[in-house]
Amino acid sequence: MAGTWDELVQQIKERLDIVDVVSQEVVLKKKGNNYWGLCPFHKDKNPSFCVTPHLGIYKCFSCGEAGDTLKFIMKTRNIEFKDLIIELAEKFGLEVPQSHKSASGSSRELKEQMATATMVAAEFYHDLLIRAKDSNADIALKYLTKRGIGTDIIKKFHIGIAPKTYTTLYDELRKDFSNDVLEKSGLIMKSERGGYIDRFRNRVIIPIQNENGEFVAFGARALEKDQTPKYLNSSDSLIYNKSRLLYGLYTAKDAIKENDSVILMEGYFDVISSQAHGIENCVASCGTSLTAEHVKLLSRYTKSRRIYLSFDTDSAGQKATARGAAVIKDVFAGLGDIRQFDESYVASDKDKYACEIRVIAPPEGKDPDEFVRSVGADAYKMYMENAPLFIDFQLENILREKDKYNTPQEKAQYVKQIIPVLSEIKNRIIRSEYIDMVAQTLNINAGAIRTEMRVFERANLPQAERIIKNVTKSSSVLQKAQKNLLSVFLVPDSPLTFTQINEMIGDVTFDDQILTNVKTTIDKLICSVNNVKELIEHLYTEFVENPEAQAILPELIATSEVYKGLNEEDFGSVIKETINKINHCRHVKETEHIKSLYKGIKDDDPEALKIQIQLRDKIKKIRQKSEKF
Ligand code: UTP
Ligand code: MN
Repeated sequence: MAGTWDELVQQIKERLDIVDVVSQEVVLKKKGNNYWGLCPFHKDKNPSFCVTPHLGIYKCFSCGEAGDTLKFIMKTRNIEFKDLIIELAEKFGLEVPQSHKSASGSSRELKEQMATATMVAAEFYHDLLIRAKDSNADIALKYLTKRGIGTDIIKKFHIGIAPKTYTTLYDELRKDFSNDVLEKSGLIMKSERGGYIDRFRNRVIIPIQNENGEFVAFGARALEKDQTPKYLNSSDSLIYNKSRLLYGLYTAKDAIKENDSVILMEGYFDVISSQAHGIENCVASCGTSLTAEHVKLLSRYTKSRRIYLSFDTDSAGQKATARGAAVIKDVFAGLGDIRQFDESYVASDKDKYACEIRVIAPPEGKDPDEFVRSVGADAYKMYMENAPLFIDFQLENILREKDKYNTPQEKAQYVKQIIPVLSEIKNRIIRSEYIDMVAQTLNINAGAIRTEMRVFERANLPQAERIIKNVTKSSSVLQKAQKNLLSVFLVPDSPLTFTQINEMIGDVTFDDQILTNVKTTIDKLICSVNNVKELIEHLYTEFVENPEAQAILPELIATSEVYKGLNEEDFGSVIKETINKINHCRHVKETEHIKSLYKGIKDDDPEALKIQIQLRDKIKKIRQKSEKF
């Protein structure tokens, strides 16, 4: 029996886990009772986005966006409340009250039919191959055998064969599915003569499963040498988004959790061979390069976020490695250090690291598929156990070429390649060791490298740069952060006393007249009131004749609700982070101000130098501030 709409909403809420849901969009890191990450609703540089699981809510302490699980999905997927509830009801097998059933069911139905058609097609292709029903099957089986792929592997990965003929699949599936469904699933396409033909022909079929094991797409490898492209892939569809799906994840996910690490490979067959040979925690993207979404997807399965890149060792593969590492670093930026060096003495403090990137690059060359077949899985595992951190891999690659650079000019040019790599090492001691090592290897002066590094870093203040881009936003961000700071006084059952809070806030000032007024009034009131409830009541009374100030009280109270239930430590860090945010925004505003002065000044103006120095100091300060976070 269907209950009421409100009951349905409640049942759905109970079934949703906010950490699970948010993790699909945001990489989260646990701190105390909460999880923190980069806010998906504004360009966030430090993790200001907080998820409080026991309250089922999220809040960004920088842009102010807050809500529950349902609101999060609505915002990130841009979907209406009613549609979302109906979709989730279906997913959880809950009945929707008749009064709320709507026409929007049609798109869900279409998706379901597409998934079914794709599954039936996968079964069909697979059946043709294992029962050798198609004349091409023999050729395909021979081809696969040559690649070391026997019946077991064929079955495990549901590998199939698409015949040479034009309409074999279409003839089979048209009985049960409309042309529209088959075309939208990418199984058939319009022929020049107006009818429909199969999209995949004369190819080994590799069905692609999503995280839940549903078949949603295909990769199809050419059987003949001159057949192009080598791989024909399904296009994105209503049920397939290649930038959010990783091949092999469904079969790899237990192993990823167990090993607490994942290996990223390039090709379908790399994953198939490796998994078949007992290296099970590996995945690959499907005919597209690695995206931030892929990395977020993986981060849900590994706690320590140890990611191995195992691409080809040729120059294209090296580029892919560098690109992949850049994507990974970007996703984890701000969540803690990226492991850049072997610091075994802090190995117990795993939480210190946002992620760890290592590279598996056996000197034999070869892609993982060829390697495990010709050299062996044990050897591969050995390379994996000894895989260098990405930074060591990078340096080694650069230093390997050292004999090509001999003249002072060549050496200077060469060092330019190395400096960006070295400047990523945050730990000063380790950085210094690396600089000495490079200096020795290249037979140049270490002091000179240090000087060049300072020049490079000054010119490449990535954080400050990003801040400046956001400066127009920073004013409202600043105001929001200041409101957040005021709302900490209004938290019901606060773990900190008014005095403790005021001690933490210290001499933080407020830019806005109204906010300053609210803070002064709070300061005055907290000497006489006994609890938050009284404070709020008195605030309303105090501002009876100040409607502007009164108007922001509900906003402050709503924000304070979000902090409810935090323990003392978490609450303290929220306050600290909010203060940091405020200071940080101020610096940005000031820098921008000085910059604008600087732009207006001519070089022959005696003030120019002074302002230039001021600007430099300011930027330095911002950098120190940012490093502190
Ligand atoms: P590679 O060309 O490196 O080939 O493509 P491979 O995986 O070693 O293939 P085999 O061993 O010769 O069969 C790596 C991946 O790039 C994508 C596929 O996902 C492939 O697995 N790719 C490659 C395409 O999507 N289309 C192509 O034409 C080629
Ligand atoms: Mn290969």
